[in-house]
Amino acid sequence: MILEARCVKKEYRRGGRSFLALDGISLSAGEGDFICIVGRSGSGKSTLLNILAGLLTPTSGSVCFEGREYGSLNDRDMSEIRSGPLGYIMQGHGVLPNFTVLQNTLLPHVMAGRSGDVTETAMRLLEQVGIAPLAAQYPSSLSGGELRRVSIARALLSSPRLLIADEPTSDLDEETAEEIMRVFDSIAKKGTALLMVTHDMDFAAYGTRSYRMASGQLFEIKPGGRN
Ligand SMILES: Nc1ncnc2c1ncn2[C@@H]1O[C@H](COP(=O)(O)OP(=O)(O)O)[C@@H](O)[C@H]1O
Ligand SMILES: [Mg+2]
Repeated sequence: MILEARCVKKEYRRGGRSFLALDGISLSAGEGDFICIVGRSGSGKSTLLNILAGLLTPTSGSVCFEGREYGSLNDRDMSEIRSGPLGYIMQGHGVLPNFTVLQNTLLPHVMAGRSGDVTETAMRLLEQVGIAPLAAQYPSSLSGGELRRVSIARALLSSPRLLIADEPTSDLDEETAEEIMRVFDSIAKKGTALLMVTHDMDFAAYGTRSYRMASGQLFEIKPGGRN
């Protein structure tokens, strides 16, 4: 198993009151999985992803990445996981305006101070997400869907075993959103496990496994079943 979460709870406090944003979530992701989680705004999706990516500590429960429990790892181990085998595409595209598409794709490599030229790898990834001809362009000339493709290529640069994406289609029109889902589908078929959340219920069908999130809990959506 690549990722394994057990009985994760997250309690938030607001205005002197506390509430459970996550109420005992267990979830695992292995090779070949394309997991879709759908749920309304405020249902706890981002909270869950932040905990699974090790950016937020759960109130109780555990998360293991490749057999290593987050609670037992120090900051350096955690950042090594996040800059390598675990890719996280946060909400929004995060593409920087003063860098070209290719430079944006190379950014994690440069920021991490890694040696070696990975331009060829970056170009191959831009090819894979369908925007190689735009490599030398600046983000201002790109559409929303193209910007999202840049953020996906960038997240793939470290060859993650698991790619987590928070609402990767939220600001796109229906047709472009479907194109992006197909990009994710091809990534999953190439062997990267995927875990994405969306408030768009229609996209549950793309996953090899899908869940509905409500009241801080996950309910598996069975193909063809009622949910
Ligand atoms: N840091 C926080 N402190 C208190 N409440 C929070 C915090 N972050 C999120 N929440 C609340 O927790 C719930 C789940 O939020 P979130 O995980 O962002 O949901 P989603 O991503 O599904 O929209 C919401 O009610 C939100 O307002
Ligand atoms: Mg969210």
